[in-house]
Amino acid sequence: MDCFYEAGNEDSILITLVTKAEFDELTNSSLDNVATWILSSNRSIQVGNHYLVPDAVGKLNQVVVIVDDNLSIWTIAGLPFSLPTGNYFLADTIPLEDREKLITGWGLGSYQFSKYKKKKGKDSARLSLDSDIDQTSVLAIIDSTCIVRDLINEPPNEMMPQHLSKATQELASKFDASFTEIVGDELIEDNYPLIHAIGRASEHQPRLLKLEWGDPKHPLLCVAGKGVCFDSGGLDIKSASGMRWMKKDMGGAAHALGLANYIMQTNLPVRLQVAIPAVENAISNNAYRPGDVIVSRSGISVEIDNTDAEGRLVLADAISELCDLKPDLLIDYATLTGAARVALGTEVGVFFSELDKTSHGLYSSAKASEDDIWRLPIHQGYKHQLKSNIADLVNCASSGYGGAITAALFLQAFVSDDCDWVHFDVMAYNMRSRPGRPKGGEAMGLRSVCQYLETRYSRK
Ligand code: BES
Ligand code: ZN
Ligand code: ZN
Repeated sequence: MDCFYEAGNEDSILITLVTKAEFDELTNSSLDNVATWILSSNRSIQVGNHYLVPDAVGKLNQVVVIVDDNLSIWTIAGLPFSLPTGNYFLADTIPLEDREKLITGWGLGSYQFSKYKKKKGKDSARLSLDSDIDQTSVLAIIDSTCIVRDLINEPPNEMMPQHLSKATQELASKFDASFTEIVGDELIEDNYPLIHAIGRASEHQPRLLKLEWGDPKHPLLCVAGKGVCFDSGGLDIKSASGMRWMKKDMGGAAHALGLANYIMQTNLPVRLQVAIPAVENAISNNAYRPGDVIVSRSGISVEIDNTDAEGRLVLADAISELCDLKPDLLIDYATLTGAARVALGTEVGVFFSELDKTSHGLYSSAKASEDDIWRLPIHQGYKHQLKSNIADLVNCASSGYGGAITAALFLQAFVSDDCDWVHFDVMAYNMRSRPGRPKGGEAMGLRSVCQYLETRYSRK
């Protein structure tokens, strides 16, 4: 990220934050040059506005931002692309914890995906990376989020299973982690029948990607991510509008890699095992069909009701393998259901967990990191909807009501009873731009988990 610079630069410009009340008080008492200039600009003084204040010779000297009483990670996240390019620094009167938030937001707001544009956007303004903040975790959060965004924003023709494999390999080699993969027919030989069945119709072979890192003496953290590189729906083909954004259906895999990056970059004291089933849900003469029965890795047989409910199938094989390792914590991320979006909209991530302790821990980290997630129940009363006449389970419920819950119930059938398991069902995409959150691929439920892991594995 080129949005920060090391402090000590003479030419950098001060950013001060002033609440509306403070500004009113200032203008009621004695007017200094800055306040006089702001008032003379004839723009209303309101929260969110910023004012470019020149020095005596007309050169930009200070930026004044009118802010709320409570500073947010997003307070100045819109500035990197609205200020003139240059170097800025935050007033040191801003408390350390707030500066950490603001710097994080600045980093997230400096992101743009312009790889395929001839005319690149302008460079973002740069902010001083204060030496007194927790640079390691701030930079890791920004880097990890950008990894998630980049992977999702990549067009599907450039982000097929082999590309996801390359990205996983590159991440592994950056941190000396081990990488292995099981490709194509090897998935049959090694007993991953669901991953193979869903991915076999594509000319891009299905894969199970594995990344392993850390000291085996540390608690085992397992992370899985749905890596459906494009979801056409399969033979139960999606409508054009339903298919339009389905490049993001590998968003869960992107989150798993983003989280792995955070863990390795901050050297979290865990043993990490990542598993990503990477497939394209394509249509071909050898595509899996509605009515097929497939015996999963765990031995549970699944009758396919709808080939568009593919994410839970590929995750099932990955999750049951991870559970065999008896992890201290198992987290999966997936763009699993449209129903989760109907329930909470596109901007609040859904999570499921049977354990109140884990859920409450996640909630407090979510609040502190301003990451919008909400828990839904794994309501056992809906389990009957997954009954099949001829197999152990069907892959999707006959009614769409509570679809995010029935999908979670399906996954739960592959999770060991004693496993501390958290399942995220997220949009992984911003349908509109907000400060710090541009339209396109987005990490949702990532900051919460990073902060939660810091507490759980007691570094903070
Ligand atoms: N990838 C989709 C879920 C999705 C759709 C996530 C839109 C975010 C936005 C998933 O594979 C899917 O198609 N699910 C179906 C399940 C249904 C067939 C039971 C859905 O949600 O409609
Ligand atoms: Zn689908
Ligand atoms: Zn899908």
